[in-house]
Amino acid sequence: MSEAPKRPLDRLQAADVAHHLHPFTDADELRRRPPRLIVRGQGVRIWDADDHEILDAMSGLWCVNLGYGRTDLVEAAQRQMLRLPYYNTFFQTTTEPAARLAAALARIAPPGMRQVFFTECGSTANDTMVRMVRHYWELRRQPLRKVIISRRNAYHGSTLAAASLGGMASMHAQGGLPLPDFSHIEQPHRLQLGLPGESEQDFALRAAGWLDERIRAIGAERVAAFVLEPVQGAGGVIVPPAGYARAIESICRRHQVLLVSDEVICGFGRLGYWFGCQHPAIDIEPDLITFAKGVTSGYLPLGGVLVGAEVGEVLSARAGEFAHGFTYSGHPSCCALALANLHALEHEQVLQQVRQVTAPYLQQRFADLARHPLAGDPEGLGMTAALTLWQDKATRRPFPDEARAGLLCRDACFDSGVVMRAVGQRMIIAPPLVSTIDDIDRMVERIGIALDRTQQALRRGGWLR
Ligand SMILES: Cc1ncc(COP(=O)(O)O)c(C=O)c1O
Repeated sequence: MSEAPKRPLDRLQAADVAHHLHPFTDADELRRRPPRLIVRGQGVRIWDADDHEILDAMSGLWCVNLGYGRTDLVEAAQRQMLRLPYYNTFFQTTTEPAARLAAALARIAPPGMRQVFFTECGSTANDTMVRMVRHYWELRRQPLRKVIISRRNAYHGSTLAAASLGGMASMHAQGGLPLPDFSHIEQPHRLQLGLPGESEQDFALRAAGWLDERIRAIGAERVAAFVLEPVQGAGGVIVPPAGYARAIESICRRHQVLLVSDEVICGFGRLGYWFGCQHPAIDIEPDLITFAKGVTSGYLPLGGVLVGAEVGEVLSARAGEFAHGFTYSGHPSCCALALANLHALEHEQVLQQVRQVTAPYLQQRFADLARHPLAGDPEGLGMTAALTLWQDKATRRPFPDEARAGLLCRDACFDSGVVMRAVGQRMIIAPPLVSTIDDIDRMVERIGIALDRTQQALRRGGWLR
């Protein structure tokens, strides 16, 4: 019989394993190895219950853009909670923070985006977008336009519609997804899909051409929208080749297909701009933007859909009631916190600092890391970066799946005091936007140690000589 756990930490972990169903976590693995308990955070650092300091190079789940421990954000939410913690925005009512946040978002959004629909998270933002886009085409008397195209390996959330919209095979394998009228093209991943001798520009045009082919195959009269992330995040930090996004935009325009930018990760400074679509390497004008995460730096849940002029006019002028909404749409405490977050991003000139200093430095240091014998092909944009682990770097031979190289490296990172995420054999980071040069140096140093440890573990397992 196993002994009853004694320490409070052990008891908590045992309670968690017994009663808490975790998102995206292998249940067997959780039983074998209890979860790491994170107890506090400050700046770019978090601490576990054994008081190990860990650099959070993933900003939680790509969201803690301003870092931990910001009393200004907490106080903004607290003030609102004491005044009016909750009221809804249904049936002709609003609240001051919801109205002010809507106006603030309209001010920083790309030109023409004047309206916002609030949700609680990125998944419900994308669900809302799907319903809104289809409703728009119904109002335009083109009700056949229902199909929404996105890309393989894209992550757009976990609700039925968002998981269908996403292109994650593991998600589609469960519960009969995708729902009808979602279609997926290949991602513009040159490392995987580029042809020998093919230039970046040629690959960009070929990859964008997959959208044109798909729209023609389905019939443009049935296609409602195409959805992309400016940089594909959870898919492995896939930065599109130069010219891809612009080519996609012109294909959408040619077929009158709406273009949606999912900015749940790329928004609010992740790429050094308010929205990723404004980065010169992307440079598109989407019809709709979905957002979440960084709008509150993850301190409270909030998401939404920013609506451009064309869709906005149709919805406002002809719609009557859009039969859609959430109890927490425009939650006043979350909106108050988001306003404080936007204020800090703007007044502390965080975006300029990312553009001019931190992001170029991060990319340079990732290029240094790629000299490690195990890792290569550094990629990234703004405050996102990726490396690929190779069994044979010279020939780019990947490890077999059974080697679990990415997971070994993810664990080695945690043990070395830095959070990195593994997407297959791609190791990715997205540090807080307030990371300093010194913080980045420490992250890179610890990732270097973790790569050494991963190499040793792979040798022990017989996967490397
Ligand atoms: C691009 C993108 N869209 C949507 C989502 C879903 O957001 P949420 O987890 O807030 O529902 C995510 C989450 O990681 C994301 O990365």
